[in-house]
Amino acid sequence: MASWNPKQYLQFADLRSRPCHDLANRVGIPHAGRIVDLGCGTGNSTEVLAARWPDASITGIDSSPAMIDAARSASPNGDWRAGNIEDWLASPDERYDLVFSNAALQWVGNHARLFPALFAHVEPGGALAVQMPCNYHTHQNRIPRELAASPKWRRWFPEGRAQEWFSYEPDFYYDLLAPLASRLDIWTSEYLQPMADAEAIVDWYKGTGLRPYLEAIGDDAERRRFLSEYLARLRPHYPARASGGVLFAFRRVFIVAYH
Ligand SMILES: C[S@@+](CC[C@H](N)C(=O)[O-])C[C@H]1O[C@@H](n2cnc3c(N)ncnc32)[C@H](O)[C@@H]1O
Repeated sequence: MASWNPKQYLQFADLRSRPCHDLANRVGIPHAGRIVDLGCGTGNSTEVLAARWPDASITGIDSSPAMIDAARSASPNGDWRAGNIEDWLASPDERYDLVFSNAALQWVGNHARLFPALFAHVEPGGALAVQMPCNYHTHQNRIPRELAASPKWRRWFPEGRAQEWFSYEPDFYYDLLAPLASRLDIWTSEYLQPMADAEAIVDWYKGTGLRPYLEAIGDDAERRRFLSEYLARLRPHYPARASGGVLFAFRRVFIVAYH
């Protein structure tokens, strides 16, 4: 798993946290005594949960020691655990009123197995609430895949690809969870984010989706070349608006499955 850089990730913290607020605000459970935040990162999503359910005891779990350290420094009294979601799933006693995950499960494989397994950790009356990107085929995601598979870049990507994130379209999650949940709320939102230029989009994406590519390239100069090729291919898709700047669209899928 590619490593995470808290500083790069937090650069766009306000923009990134909006879907998390939208998800948390939508969850309608009568009681949230125990909450787990899977892939809590630096604790941004955990903070949103603490504001929404101030009396809940909240555990944050993340596989990146750097992200957990940043979360612990920001909130030393929090219950932070370094660990994999996959390992956590193997503990049947870990049951919560709310199993929450914002912008993390796209990094975990085998969703057909993962989502029912997550739901099994929800207490009766509770919910599983998840938000992930839902734009696998858009330019910013397609271009690095094409570069990695091209002869020019292939030496850094022997398999023709980097380890990358993935999510399905919403109906996939509906079909998986509808037989299990008493009520299911699934929707998508496309956020249109005004940004200065295509460089700003690259900067944004360096903190998340581009990390596996940049980490696979073991040379700084080559990494810079990869980024400038990425930018050159991306730029035509983000023409300057009449009023200045570019519009960056990010589409997200939201899932709230009630036990
Ligand atoms: C985009 S960040 C989201 C952080 C936080 N939830 C937020 O909303 O700001 C994704 C996080 O998922 C974590 N992650 C990815 N795969 C994981 C796994 N298999 N187990 C635990 N954490 C994982 C990463 O370390 C990273 O901190």
